[in-house]
Amino acid sequence: MSSPERYSALKGVQDILPPDISLWQRAESLAREVFSRYGFQEIRTPIIEPTALFTRSIGETTDIVEKEMYTFPDKAGRSITLRPEGTASVVRAYVQHHLSGLPSPRKFFYAGPMFRYERPQQGRFRQFHQIGVEAFGVASPVLDAEVLSMLKVFLAALGLRELRFEVNSIGCENCRPSYRKALQDFFSGVREDLCPDCQRRYEYNPLRILDCKVERCIELRRGAPHVSDFLCEECKSHFEKVLAALGLLRIPYVINHEMVRGLDYYTRTTFEVTSEHLGAQKAVAAGGRYDRLVEEFGGPPTPGIGFAIGMERLTALLSEKEGVVEVFPDVYIAPLGEKAAAEGLLIAERLRAKGLWTESGYEGSSLRSQLRRADKLACRHVIIVGDDELSSGKVKWKDLKTGSQGEVEIPKVEEFLSSFRTDVG
Ligand code: HAM
Repeated sequence: MSSPERYSALKGVQDILPPDISLWQRAESLAREVFSRYGFQEIRTPIIEPTALFTRSIGETTDIVEKEMYTFPDKAGRSITLRPEGTASVVRAYVQHHLSGLPSPRKFFYAGPMFRYERPQQGRFRQFHQIGVEAFGVASPVLDAEVLSMLKVFLAALGLRELRFEVNSIGCENCRPSYRKALQDFFSGVREDLCPDCQRRYEYNPLRILDCKVERCIELRRGAPHVSDFLCEECKSHFEKVLAALGLLRIPYVINHEMVRGLDYYTRTTFEVTSEHLGAQKAVAAGGRYDRLVEEFGGPPTPGIGFAIGMERLTALLSEKEGVVEVFPDVYIAPLGEKAAAEGLLIAERLRAKGLWTESGYEGSSLRSQLRRADKLACRHVIIVGDDELSSGKVKWKDLKTGSQGEVEIPKVEEFLSSFRTDVG
C-alpha cells in the first residue's frame, strides 16, 4: 500500500462542525417556520446549471460573472456553472414548470450552498450558504414592504435587532437610460483614471462603477449623480409607497443612494441589511425587485422580488451575541457484564423511543471508566445495569448534576427519567 496522504478542505470552503452546527439548525428551522407563515414554500433547485443562465441574468459585466464563477465543461462539452446565487435558478424553474398559472403571488424559499471564486476573507467564502426567498406575480409596493417585514421578523426572532435596513430604488428600463447617460457624463473626464474593469463598465454598464471595490474608483465616484434624481414618475411613486409602508410597519430604514447591488437583474427596490459587527463584509442579507427577469427567461411578464441571507454571516452574529448553545445527553447506560449489556441495549432503545438522548457503554469497560465517559459527555443521569440489579428487576440510577442516587424498577426507567426531561442540559 502506498503511504497515506492527509487532505485538507480547499481554500475558502469550510466544514461546519458541532457544536457550531446548532446555530445553523436553529436559524434554518426558524426560517422555515417564519417564512411559511407568510405563505412561502420550499423549492430545491440543482447546484449545477447551464452557464448562460447566470451570465444572462446576473450580467456579463458584474464581478460575479467576470471573475467569480466556478465554470467548467462537462464530459459532453457543455458549459456548466456551480450556482453563485439562487434567484436565477428559481426563476428558471418558475418558467420551466409554468408555475405562473397558479394564484399570485407564488412564493418560494430555498436554502443551500452557493459558490463564488472570491478572495477568501472574514465573511467571504468560496462555498457559502444562503437562505433565500422569491415571490412572483405582484408588482405592488406593499409586497416589497411585506417581504422586508418578514426578513425583519425572522432576524428579530433570532434576537438580532441592531441591524440597518438600507433601501434604494434603481429605477426601471424607462428611467435607467437617462441615469446611465448622467453617469457617463460624470465619469467622462476621468475615464482613463478608472480601473481597467471600470473603463469597460463605463461603456457597457456605468452603474457597475458604483459597485467597484477599487480604492481609486471609490474616490472618483464621490459626488456622482444619485439615481433618485432620475427615477420616472412610476418608479418614484413605487418607492414612495414602499417607504410609506415601511413606516407603517415601523421598520426603521435608511436610504442608501449608492446601493446598486452586484447583480444586474434588479429593477426598482433594492435593499441590504447590514451590521456593524461583521467587519468589512457588512451585509447579512440583501435583495430587491427583478420585474423583467421572468420575461427575459421566456416566461410571461411577471414581476418578482426576493432576498437572500448569508448564513456564515448570520451565524457569526448569532455566535457573537449568545455563543453556541450546546446540548448534552440525557442519560448514559453503563452495563457491567454480558447479560447486563443485553438488558442495557433494550433499556437504551426504550429511552430513545421516548425521545431521550441516550448514550451507552459497551461490555468490557469498568464502571469507573464508564462513569468517566458519562461525565465527559456531560450526561445528566447514569443508569447502572449489573447482574445483581438484573436479578432484583431493578437498576441503579445516579444524577450526575445533584449527586443523588437510588434504584428504579426496570419497567419504570422511562417514566422516571422522562420527569427530568425539561431541565436537562
Ligand atoms: P447577494 O448580495 O449577492 O444577493 O448575496 C446575498 C447575501 O449572501 C449577502 O448579503 C451575503 O450575506 C451573502 N454572501 C454573498 N457572497 C458571499 C460570500 N462569498 N461569502 C459569504 N457570504 C456571501 C444574491 O445572491 C441575490 N440572489 C439575492 C436576491 C434574492 N435578490 C433577489 N432575490
